[in-house]
Amino acid sequence: MRALVLNTVNKSTTVQDVPNPEPGPKEILVRVRAVALNHVDYMNAVKPLAAQEKRVLGSDFAGEVAQVGEDLVGLDDPRAKVGARVSGFVQGASSVNDRPGAFAEYVAIDYDLTWNIPDKVSFEEAASVSLGAMTAAQGVFERLQLPSPFSETGVSEQRSIREDEPVSVFIYGASSSVGLYAAQLVRLSEKTSDRKIRLIGAASPSKHALLYDAPYSYDLLVDYRDPQWPEAVRKAAGGEGAQYAIDAISQGSTVEQTDSVIKSGGKFAIFRAPAAGNFDIAKLKTKPIFGAVWEALGVEVQYHGGVTIPANTKARAFGAALYKYLGSGVESGQIKLYPNPVRVMPGGLEEIPSDGFGLLSGSFKAVQQDQKGHLGPVSGEKIVYVVS
Ligand SMILES: NC(=O)c1ccc[n+]([C@@H]2O[C@H](COP(=O)([O-])OP(=O)(O)OC[C@H]3O[C@@H](n4cnc5c(N)ncnc54)[C@H](OP(=O)(O)O)[C@@H]3O)[C@@H](O)[C@H]2O)c1
Repeated sequence: MRALVLNTVNKSTTVQDVPNPEPGPKEILVRVRAVALNHVDYMNAVKPLAAQEKRVLGSDFAGEVAQVGEDLVGLDDPRAKVGARVSGFVQGASSVNDRPGAFAEYVAIDYDLTWNIPDKVSFEEAASVSLGAMTAAQGVFERLQLPSPFSETGVSEQRSIREDEPVSVFIYGASSSVGLYAAQLVRLSEKTSDRKIRLIGAASPSKHALLYDAPYSYDLLVDYRDPQWPEAVRKAAGGEGAQYAIDAISQGSTVEQTDSVIKSGGKFAIFRAPAAGNFDIAKLKTKPIFGAVWEALGVEVQYHGGVTIPANTKARAFGAALYKYLGSGVESGQIKLYPNPVRVMPGGLEEIPSDGFGLLSGSFKAVQQDQKGHLGPVSGEKIVYVVS
């Protein structure tokens, strides 16, 4: 098959012919139709982790099942059928451990770490969902412990809030991919618990109309470039601040700013570790809770900075439960989570290193001044490539 291969020695990234992956007994082989880009894909290309000379890059994919592993033959699960439309994410080069990458014509993955794509959702849209939605769900349900529509996670915690006390959730970086999924999950949590949630977000004003609309349905949005925004958020959350906060950017001053709008005793989810996000945890009132999306894959990950994320069976069970939920009701046309707006880029895998990674790294900023089109500024969108 053709795949986007990182040479970890000379840091070149080129499309090469590599052997097709063989699905294990409980794996499916997916013919990849579309892939989406995440910051980590670019980061791994410029700062390779792998000890091996060659690694296939890429995390998010969507495609069709081409083959099922021997233990899955006859299994009554819609994902374990040849021709099924599925999406998921893999680690690619995001670990020292040797793992498959998604920027390829085929990828092998545990069937229960994929979700069924509704007919109304295209492969390009579906590719934007898996990694971002898992990251957001870990934040909303595992770290903030809000009631979940697909497990009992957090219900007891939520009940500890007095019934008459309004619940406020604040999302910083509401237009980011993680922020767009987090808001939808908060709204699903609201339906599950039948408790009104006041959802407050910080994003560029150009994205406010999108975010006030369904499925995000924010109650209030502030402009993160307005220095007065923390005061406006505290006021909207009843004066003392929000009980729950998510910093979907988690970079430098965003963490301290978000911390400043959290009520005493509140909960705080972040998505970058202090060293990677360049912030000082000692300066924060509320201890933020961090985690890595890779935990959902249930395997040990040797990561950047010599960090080892141990295999976590609970996190894997959570991930599998989220994806089962996302695919439930597909036969009746239900969409549980709406994909991010997508920018489908011209060209295929070959163009990812120049155009796709160029957009993620900000290297087109000069071009962006006067150019729209596929190299224009990325805001509230996922970059997607068609593979086949
Ligand atoms: N822990 C994990 O496992 C994990 C997994 C996935 C992602 N992440 C991290 O989560 C963060 C978000 O990732 P993503 O893929 O969701 O990002 P993304 O979609 O690429 O984020 C881009 C958006 O963020 C907004 N933005 C950028 N800088 C901002 C700032 N300083 N303040 C407010 N908004 C800002 C931009 O809004 P405007 O255009 O309107 O300015 C833009 O719409 C990244 O730091 C990523 O590394 C962590």
